[in-house]
This record gives sequence, C-alpha cells and structure tokens, in this order.
Amino acid sequence: MASRSARTLRAAARRGLCLLALATLATTASAQNELRQARDNYLLHCSGCHQPDARGKPSAGIPDMRETVPLLLATPAGRAFLIQVPGTSASALSDAQIAGLMNWLMPALTGRDDVQAFSTEEVGRYRRQPLDDVSAHRAAILGGGATPAQDKTARASPGPM
Ligand code: HEC
Repeated sequence: MASRSARTLRAAARRGLCLLALATLATTASAQNELRQARDNYLLHCSGCHQPDARGKPSAGIPDMRETVPLLLATPAGRAFLIQVPGTSASALSDAQIAGLMNWLMPALTGRDDVQAFSTEEVGRYRRQPLDDVSAHRAAILGGGATPAQDKTARASPGPM
C-alpha cells in the first residue's frame, strides 16, 4: 500500500511537472510574440524619426536615444518624460502597446535587464500629464547638459565650422 501511494504521488508529481513545462512554453511563446509586436510598433511608429537603431538625427533635433535614455531612466521625472514626450504620448498606440514597446526598447537600448517594467496604468498616468514646454522640461531633467552646450556653440559661431 505504502509503495503504491508513493508511485501515485510520483506520477502526480510528473504530471505536475509536465503541466508546468507546458505553461512555461506557452508563456515564452506569448512573450516572444509581445516582443515582436513591440519591435514592429517601434519600426512603424517611431523609427521614421528615431531610426531603426535609435541613433536619431541630433543635428535635426532628434536625440540619440542610446545616449539620452539611460540618463532619463535614472530619475522619476526622466522616466515619466519618456512617456510624456509627444512622440510617445501623442502616438496612435494604446497605453498597453506603449508599455509593451517601452518594455522591449528600454532593455534593448541600455543592455540592462533590471529596468523596472512600465505598466499600462503607469503609461496612462504619465500620458494624461502633458508637458507645456517639452525642451525646457527635457533640459531641466538632463541637467541642462545637451541643449545649453548647443546654444553656446550656436552663439559662438554663426554656423557649423
Ligand atoms: C516626428 C518625429 C518623431 C516621432 C515619430 C517620434 N519621436 Fe520620439 N522624439 C522626437 C523628438 C524631436 C524628441 C526630442 C524631444 C522633443 O522635442 O520632443 C523625441 C524624444 C523621444 C524620447 C526621449 C529621448 C530624449 O532624449 O528626449 C523618447 C523616449 C521617444 N522620443 C520615444 C518615441 C517613441 C516610443 C516613438 C514612437 C511611438 C517616438 N518617439 C516617435 C521625435 C519623434
């Protein structure tokens, strides 16, 4: 009797493991699907300005996100700015689609896997707080690093070179 119930237990455990494995496979497939959708949304809605590799075109005012996003991610105001910026907040994407896009883009840009994920609720909250003056707000968050330096150069010389 004892050995029979042990066998039953082992069989149940095996069945449990199988179910767990199946569930894991399903999760992986849907996670991959979400990542693909996020990448497609980036290519469709963002890369026209930001370029597929996110290098942008700084000379035309499109920031190189590979440089600015790690800085912006470092503060709560910067994290909100990533969503409040018009390119993100005024896009045709839903809050959930933006959350998915950011949760793919942030690790891809920073090479970090510990970036706190954006929830749909968080995206919606930032999106409902539009910015009056985008460049002033951005310069304040980035500590005035990029923009004032450009201004100084522009004042010092009438054109490039
Ligand atoms: C029409 C061009 C354009 C499109 C399309 C666009 N952006 Fe932007 N994006 C900009 C510009 C310009 C800035 C710099 C801040 C500003 O002036 O709005 C920026 C800034 C950003 C920033 C903050 C980085 C920084 O250094 O300021 C993020 C994050 C961002 N965009 C994400 C996106 C995402 C995600 C999409 C697609 C859903 C998108 N953008 C679509 C032009 C665009």
